[in-house]
Parts: sequence; structure tokens; C-alpha cells
Amino acid sequence: AENMLWGGRFTQGLDPLMVQYNTSLPYDRVFWKQDIAGSIAFARANTNSGLLTKQEFAEIERGFKQIAQEWETNTFVAKENDEDIHTANERRLGEIIGKEIGGKLHTGRSRNEQIATDMRLWLRDELRLIENHLTDLIKVSIARAENDIAYLMPGYTHLQKAQPVRWSHWILSHATAFASELERLREVIRRVNKSPLGTGALAGNCFNIDREAMAKELGFEGLLYNSMNAVADRDFAMETMQWGSSFMLKISRWAEDLIIYSSLEFGFVRLSDAYSTGSSLMPQKKNADSLELLRGKAGRAFGQMAGLMCTIKGLPTTYNKDLQESVEPMLDHIKTVSDSIQIATGVLSTLTVIPEKMIAALAPEMLATEIADYLVRKGVPFREGHHISGRVVALAENTNVPMDTLSLQQLQEVDSRFDADVQACLDYERAVELKDAIGGTSKRAVLEQTGVLKKLL
Ligand code: ARG
Repeated sequence: AENMLWGGRFTQGLDPLMVQYNTSLPYDRVFWKQDIAGSIAFARANTNSGLLTKQEFAEIERGFKQIAQEWETNTFVAKENDEDIHTANERRLGEIIGKEIGGKLHTGRSRNEQIATDMRLWLRDELRLIENHLTDLIKVSIARAENDIAYLMPGYTHLQKAQPVRWSHWILSHATAFASELERLREVIRRVNKSPLGTGALAGNCFNIDREAMAKELGFEGLLYNSMNAVADRDFAMETMQWGSSFMLKISRWAEDLIIYSSLEFGFVRLSDAYSTGSSLMPQKKNADSLELLRGKAGRAFGQMAGLMCTIKGLPTTYNKDLQESVEPMLDHIKTVSDSIQIATGVLSTLTVIPEKMIAALAPEMLATEIADYLVRKGVPFREGHHISGRVVALAENTNVPMDTLSLQQLQEVDSRFDADVQACLDYERAVELKDAIGGTSKRAVLEQTGVLKKLL
């Protein structure tokens, strides 16, 4: 251990399994770029305050350019004592520019601030990409809703046929939920993009480093204002995963609907081959694996969030090595969410809608509310109209005729206030078009929703 970065006080070596247990380089190497950018910003700030000469800074920058090249071309060779991305980069810098100058880089700096800086920078950029993907998903939802505006389908409560709605209304019900997630995500990005650099191990920087200048160079919007908080805090990872879990929950319900709608029993939609798979045994099968994975991966995302919260909850302030356990779940969470959004967008944009199947699934009983509403327009109190309409449903059931083919005479036997104009009520399109107040399923109200969503993008 004496030849480790921190080896001065050590006399004995590490247990080989401990080396492996301790090292984070196999996964935190993805932060190589952020780590180098942070180091250069740090060296520049220390140059401006006179701790490093201009020549020393030039050497440090030259060294890091070469290291970046090595990472980029996959020729960086990790050494046994490279505990993490910070030690690996610093060790290599010393090899390239010499220990005399290389050894000055870390003046006043701690890996505690480094890892928080690297993770935040990386996360900020990833979340911005995710923001774009999510915007695309909402755009595709809007385009489909506008294009498919004519199609009617059964709307469900309790997975029982409830009232007819537009297919587009269903699409936008989910797009509206995605839009809430987009708003939340933008909030999260603002808080992720704050700089911990220049806070030291926990107590702050004693060389009066210009934190604002470093933050600016790295594209941070603002600083973390308490050094102890800056190194102890993993809110950026936790909040990201809380957000991601919330999003995955939404996409999982969306996927579940489509799994049901794409079953042969419903047959409302057909998944494109690009997002389905077959069975190794049953030749006829076409399974909605994309949708099932969206549903399944939601569970994994929640687990990562809960796992990190459990890891953090009992930690004494400030930095503890437990915090290293925030890296892997965060990396996997981001990949899971990012991939999922793109898969969902692909599924939705390539889906075939089968409007005849949707129409065929509409049932006359779904117009029972229309009959009650009809009676309301004749001056009957709704509660009474509801009861009368229920008796009409029962009559249809008992006589085994579809409700919309009952004769006027039969209806009048139930209640004398039925007139010939009741027939016109028993029409799906009309039922849908009557729901014209803001947020309803009429054509106008649905297209109005697309307008609201577009403003958010
Ligand atoms: N690899 C460490 C992590 O991910 C970096 C910080 C190490 N700091 C320390 N005091 N050991 O958390």
C-alpha cells in the first residue's frame, strides 16, 4: 500500500480481494472526460491564483491531452494501483509530464470533490440527451394523435368497457403524463448542474481558489454553497433515480395498455416486427417483448432508486466510501431510462392501428350514459335518468337484443318520456363529440390538447 496515492502512512500491502473490492475504475472510467476537464479547470484556477506557473499549467494541459487521446483510442493502460478514475489519470499524468509538476495538480483538492464533480457533469449531459428523447416521444404521440384522430375505441375503467373515446385521446392521456415527467426532468437538471469543485475533502479550499471561474469553465449553473454538503450529497443521483422511477412507472402503464390492445382478443393494434419477437417453439407467436421489457425494467429502476436511498440513509456526514455505491446504479439507471424512452418512441411510431377492431369492440351498453343524459335534457333529474337507463340495459340483457335495437315502443314501456329522437343518441360518434368541454374526447377537445403539449416542447 505504500505505493498507493495515499500510501505514506502505510507499511503493509492490501489483501488482493480488498484491492478488487475497493476499486471503482472498471465502471468510473466512463467519467474520464469529465475528470480531465475538471482537472484542467482546477489547474487553471490554481495558475490564476499563483500556485502554478504558466509553464507548469501548459505541461499539465499537454499531459491531459495525451491521456484523453489514450482513453479515446482505448490505449489507456490501467495499473494495479489505479483505484479509480482520479488516481488513474493522476498517475498517468505523472508518467507523462514527470512527478515534479504532476505532483502539484492535486494541491488543495480531494477526490471527494472530484467524484461529485465528475458524476454531476456526466449526469447533466446524459439528462440533456434524455430530455431530447423524451421530447421526441411526446412529439411522436402528438403526430399519431393528430393523424389517427378519426378512430374510436372503447374507453375502460376497471378494464371494463366504459364509454367510447378517441384512440387519440388514449394516446394523449399518456403523452400528458410524459409531459409532467418532462417538466420534472428539467427541474432535476437544474439541481444536478451545480458545482462542488473547490470544496476540498470536506472543509473547503485553503488556497482561495476561484470556484465561480471553474464552474463557468465546466458549464455548471451555480455552485454548491456548503463544502460539507457538496461532498456528502448524492441528491443528484437520488433525485435522478426518483425521477427515472416515476417515468418508468408511466411508461410501464403505457406498455401494459398496449400489451392488452395488441393481444388477439383485443387486436386494436399490431406491433411492428422491429419491436416484437417470436417463440422458439410455437411458430404462430408474435410477442410484444419490447413492451414487456418496458414494464419489466420499471422494476429494476425502482430497485436502483430504493437501493441508493438505503445506502445513504444512515451515513454520518460527510464523505463515506459507501457513496461509491451510488455510481453503478446511476449508470445503469440512466441507460435503462434512455433506452426505454427510445424503444417506446419506436414502438409508437411504427405501430399499426386496426380501427375496425376498435369499432367492433364498442358495445351498445357503452351508450347507457347517453340515455341518462338524453333524459336529463328532457328535464328528468340525472339520478332518475340513471335508474331508467339501467332498466333499459336490463331489458336489453333479458330479451337478449342489443340495446341500440330496442324499439321505441319497448323504450316507452320503460319510461313514457322517451321520444323518437332517442334513437339518435345511440351513436358512438355523437357520444364522443358531445364530450366537448376542455379535456374531453371530442375532436376539438383532443386537438386542443395537442396544442397545449406542443407549447411545452
Ligand atoms: N472512487 C471514490 C468514489 O467513487 C472517489 C472518492 C474517494 N475518496 C476517498 N476519500 N476515498 O466515491
